Amino acid sequence: MLARLAASALVALGLAQAPAMAAEEQAITDFAFSFEGPFGRYDQSQLQRGLQVYTEVCAACHGLRYVSYRTLANGGGPALSEEAMRAYAAQNTVTDAETGEDRPATPTDYFPLSAIENAPDLSLMAKARAGFHGPAGLGINQILFGMGGPEHIASILTDFSGEEKEEAGVVLYENHAFPGGWMAMAPPLSDDMVTYADGTPATTDQMAQDVAAFLMWTAEPHMMARKQAGIVAVLFLAMLCVLLYFTNKKLWAPHKRDKHTA
Ligand code: HEC
Repeated sequence: MLARLAASALVALGLAQAPAMAAEEQAITDFAFSFEGPFGRYDQSQLQRGLQVYTEVCAACHGLRYVSYRTLANGGGPALSEEAMRAYAAQNTVTDAETGEDRPATPTDYFPLSAIENAPDLSLMAKARAGFHGPAGLGINQILFGMGGPEHIASILTDFSGEEKEEAGVVLYENHAFPGGWMAMAPPLSDDMVTYADGTPATTDQMAQDVAAFLMWTAEPHMMARKQAGIVAVLFLAMLCVLLYFTNKKLWAPHKRDKHTA
């Protein structure tokens, strides 16, 4: 809240750019994700919806090579039940490293590599991309508006203009959120492409934010624990500060009195 106020004040003063026009040719929308800010938390249902979008749409091309199936059952993540996680893993086939034979994946296996050569792995994409850059590369916009990685992903998924062109035999699609404005990914989402189990309407915007939130979790699975530890540390230091102030006062009290009477 305070960060938002400070942000609007700075934007008004012309010291920071609003995220929508952060970089010259990139137009990143500042989505309000549940996990932003010092008290932000992942929304478990959103992570489950995002996993569904990844599985049904993105996995056809993009891998998640650094994510193991068992983490899907972790608290602070999508928190699938143990059985649901095992069933999810078993839907996938992996080649056993020892026998060289194909078998159903088990919880300790990892998601596959990208199925298409030029589709980047998405495990760490939310941290690899900064949505917002500060004026003159200072990164102030990032401090004010958040890291912006998930915004980068959700913006890419929602900002296709519909224009295409062919260059050296590759079809490129115009996308104002992608650096350069043209990308080799066709718009992957359209309304009602998936049917959410929790009844959430599957608009393109909703799916884009859900899968972006899920990819933030894959990139930073322990974010909630990290924030909690941070808050405890700040409270602890604040308390220490008060105690040290009084200790200091008490220790110096006799000497200060001397000075005044002398
Ligand atoms: C038909 C294959 C295909 C599907 C399906 C697909 N992508 Fe892509 N995606 C690509 C390719 C190819 C690129 C590389 C584009 C480029 O570099 O010009 C790409 C690029 C991206 C990027 C840009 C990464 C960067 O460099 O900033 C993101 C983010 C992304 N995809 C996310 C997704 C998500 C999320 C989904 C599912 C909703 C998805 N993609 C579905 C093929 C696909």
